[in-house]
Amino acid sequence: MRTRRRITTVAAGLAATSLALAACSSGGGNPTDDGSTGGGGGDASEVEVFTWWASGSEKLGLDALVGVFDEQHPDTKFINGAVAGGAGSAAKDLLQSRLQANDPPDTFQAHAGAELTDYINAGQVEDVSALYDEFGLRDAFPADLVDRLTVDGKIYSIPSNIHRANVVWANPSVIEGAGLDPDATYATLDDWFTALDAVQASGKTALSIGTTWTQVQLLETVLLADLGADGYSGLWDGSTDWSGADVADALEDFDKLMGYTNTDRDGLDWPDATQQIIDGQAAFNVMGDWAVAAFEEAGKVAGTDFTYFPVPGTDGVFDFLADSFTLPVGAPHPGGAKNWLETVGSLDGQVAFNKAKGSIPARSDTDPGDFSEYQQSAMESFGKDTIVSSLAHGAAAPIATLNAISDATSKFTTGASDLAAFQSDLAAAAAQ
Ligand code: GAL
Repeated sequence: MRTRRRITTVAAGLAATSLALAACSSGGGNPTDDGSTGGGGGDASEVEVFTWWASGSEKLGLDALVGVFDEQHPDTKFINGAVAGGAGSAAKDLLQSRLQANDPPDTFQAHAGAELTDYINAGQVEDVSALYDEFGLRDAFPADLVDRLTVDGKIYSIPSNIHRANVVWANPSVIEGAGLDPDATYATLDDWFTALDAVQASGKTALSIGTTWTQVQLLETVLLADLGADGYSGLWDGSTDWSGADVADALEDFDKLMGYTNTDRDGLDWPDATQQIIDGQAAFNVMGDWAVAAFEEAGKVAGTDFTYFPVPGTDGVFDFLADSFTLPVGAPHPGGAKNWLETVGSLDGQVAFNKAKGSIPARSDTDPGDFSEYQQSAMESFGKDTIVSSLAHGAAAPIATLNAISDATSKFTTGASDLAAFQSDLAAAAAQ
């Protein structure tokens, strides 16, 4: 049964830091000698933008956004503070050290939901509600999404995009070479196992994967497939028992899926794993829909060179995540940050960025016709599917919980192989 979209309403007791947003000058114009834009003192001479979109198709997405930024705010210099490592696997630790050392960038990427709430609760990001009024953004985004950026009525970031995590990307030639129908989709994990067996027997990698965070992402989609949307969401609100038999069954399925994967996985990030589909070394890859941008960058055509479908058992569910940009407390160039946030929220910024990134715009007023066939299908799913929160991408659980789940997963997949211990490690991790 489908649930209505659920929102994590955060009731954290943050003694909110107040920002003199009014002190930030309005964007773009007339820098004074000290680099500020005048009229209030927010230095807009430059903006250091901290992300993990450091290379490949992710950098192309960032570049597209910077192109619009340069047009909208030619007097603010963009400084690229990107730190390599998919899903922020290296960036988030470095960011935390910088924030704790009072050395914040001017703006940083944060996932809507629990991850952003961590920064809010730590008093590390400013309330940017006033910018929503100033930029006319109150009605630009879906109310559910704004709720995930809000604590105690204050909004703490501006969203750039929405991604879907529960997607399988497939190489039709490899699948056909294994004697299978390349257009088949699989209703259940059991159906998929049969196909994975056939690919494995053909000598190709059945399921390509990379390092720990990609394995955690696979784990979340298996939990979603086996527990259903309600059961999966219950893992994050305490209503599903991590120690129960359903989770044990899902972990068995996860273990089985890992048995189909490439042995060099732990040294690979997501672009390497997706590249195995592009290159015809592997049949299937579970990856968020930033992967579509990698196929496009390689000149591959959807439906011919690659196909996509929801992870078996998760059709009708949209495993959601959204990137957003913040104004950190103590940002050295708050005027520059304000200008960046204006571009992030703007129609032109969202169209340019999302076309390149593979995501769908966070704004509700873009024209679907501007986007690819895949993106149009994602927009349709987002509009009608049950929405659940991604674990690996900060929507479902605080950073400490995700880190503990990642450690438990790595311990299991790099040798421990003890399902009962894995389940109790996960239960302990989720209780953090
Ligand atoms: C996610 C992020 C996406 C994409 C992906 C892979 O966490 O939200 O925008 O960058 O990581 O690095």
